[in-house]
Amino acid sequence: MHTVSAAPLRAGVGLRLQHLKTVLDTRPEAAWFEIHPENYLANPHAAEMLFEIARLYPISVHSVGVSVGSAEGVDRRHLARIGALIDRLNPILVSGHLAWSTHEGDYLNDLLPMPYTQEALAHVAAQINQVQDALGRPYHLENPSNYLGFKDSTMTETTFLAELVERTGCRLLCDISNVHVSAHNLGYDARRYMDEFPGHAIGEMHLGGFEVEAEDSGSSVIIDTHSQPIDDHAWDLYAYAVERFGMRPTLIEWDNAIPSLETLLEEAGKAEAVAMRTLAGARRALAG
Ligand SMILES: [Fe+2]
Repeated sequence: MHTVSAAPLRAGVGLRLQHLKTVLDTRPEAAWFEIHPENYLANPHAAEMLFEIARLYPISVHSVGVSVGSAEGVDRRHLARIGALIDRLNPILVSGHLAWSTHEGDYLNDLLPMPYTQEALAHVAAQINQVQDALGRPYHLENPSNYLGFKDSTMTETTFLAELVERTGCRLLCDISNVHVSAHNLGYDARRYMDEFPGHAIGEMHLGGFEVEAEDSGSSVIIDTHSQPIDDHAWDLYAYAVERFGMRPTLIEWDNAIPSLETLLEEAGKAEAVAMRTLAGARRALAG
């Protein structure tokens, strides 16, 4: 295993290609950045800028192409390619989704969900072991945003995640917005989900913007678009999670209609303010 430097207990922002130059030119006050390695595999110019940035800021690597849920298993060539990039970056964290996005060699645009069964558990655990062996680092697995439940599931998502932690020693990335999105779409209580989440394994939290779409039936579905400021429901749930688990490195995720770096950093500042206020309130309650 590689030695991994500790991730700062602060809020970072997702670094997208259009902001690479701004970061190098302006050296903003930023706690850390998270990147998608897939954006750099065929873009040597961007990769050079990224390596420069990695000398200045802590970097977290969030893969969108490692499909631990894919029936054919993870793509070893893809893993080797991102592994080489990761070794050069020596990131504070490496993460990816509990989902599958490849099918018979094709990359699909969406991160697709999977049923929570014993069979899926054994399969995903084996894939995570492979990923961790190949990268030589702990892998942080992210809870998905769900739009449909599977009637084949025999366990809850939180039990499935806890079992994966137990079997593989992997860590978890708790996406707070995904919890809200899934809870709304599937009709369960987001705080109860959080109560059941294996908090000891959380190495990172995500906060992303989403869109609410009204349906003809009068109900609504929430789409995890990462195209908006963080919604108040997500801030409330974030405060609940911080109160329960403590502050963890927290990322502002914004992937569509990307605003200025300044706006992203303001959202990160807000996350730190929410976390500090929550922890101060918890301390006061203890002292009182
Ligand atoms: Fe996320």
